[in-house]
Amino acid sequence: MTNYLKNAWYMAAWSHEVEGEALFRRRLLGDPVLLYRKKDGVIAAMVDRCSHRYAPLSMGSRDGDCVVCPYHGLTFNDAGQCVKNPFADKIPAGTSIRSFPAQERDGIIWFWPGDPELADGSAIPDFSALWIEGHGAPLSGLMPMKAPYQLGTDNLLDLSHIEFVHKGSFAGRGVIFAGTHEVVEVGDTLHSNWWMPGVDAPPHTMGMVEPGTKMDHWLDMRWNAPASMYLQVGAVMAGDDRGTNPIIAHQAHILTPEDETNTHYFWATTRGFPPNPEGDAMLRGLLEQAFIEEDKPIIEATYANMDGGDFWDMKPAFLGIDQGGTRARRKLEAMINAEANG
Ligand code: FES
Ligand SMILES: [Fe+2]
Repeated sequence: MTNYLKNAWYMAAWSHEVEGEALFRRRLLGDPVLLYRKKDGVIAAMVDRCSHRYAPLSMGSRDGDCVVCPYHGLTFNDAGQCVKNPFADKIPAGTSIRSFPAQERDGIIWFWPGDPELADGSAIPDFSALWIEGHGAPLSGLMPMKAPYQLGTDNLLDLSHIEFVHKGSFAGRGVIFAGTHEVVEVGDTLHSNWWMPGVDAPPHTMGMVEPGTKMDHWLDMRWNAPASMYLQVGAVMAGDDRGTNPIIAHQAHILTPEDETNTHYFWATTRGFPPNPEGDAMLRGLLEQAFIEEDKPIIEATYANMDGGDFWDMKPAFLGIDQGGTRARRKLEAMINAEANG
């Protein structure tokens, strides 16, 4: 059984996925979770399974800020408490269902599967960089992956794979080999950064810089447990200070386990241009090619190829470039153990 870190914020959905009166269901950490927006816009989150005969409440209906079970009509409030039994005035013991603390920030809905008393909103990783004035919402998506979420973390904290996996999209064209990599730990946050000076203008500068122009390029990845990653893709003219007219794309790569062997891979990016249908379609096409046609197949094939073996028991070779992923795994394991023994 996978041990999940419980006392942590996990991404449950993009804000725009949970709209109006809708009852939204998503499997998270092996459990069906119901999300909906109360009249005041605040998100409610609870187990999407009625306490009576286990019907999905998401198939039911809204009664104000409450949800009515589609099977026999038990009504639950936003804290999961049963507030109405259509067959008697009395509400039997054990009728309430589990609710979760939820928060919404930067266009992301977060939920907390652990002890509600410990849910501290200030611990939510900052993704405000996704919102650029005048550009509205970032371009975003969700890719399902048939692999444990930590294989996704390995992939993201080790961007050397762009030289091989992303040949068809934003291939590294040797930039990784021309660069240096460092992993820095600041408290509970891990940074896995690539610095590539004097390389050809990288793909995110397209349309802004003449192809072939020499630039200093960086890929700075920030990791927070369990698997929330922010990537800054940056470039300046070769030799310039990083603060001198940098061209930057801000990205979110946030992984939430659907269950032990399946992952929700949420992604988002800012654009280098004001939103417009053609530009958005082109950028989405490029990113989806990279994520769906390039990352997903190799990660899924890797997992299938492990034949159910344990990652560490199989004694993976260490190449140095995988330092970020390795440290994230170790940090997460330590946090999970501390929680289990605490
Ligand atoms: S299953 Fe929900 S009220 Fe019976
Ligand atoms: Fe990738």
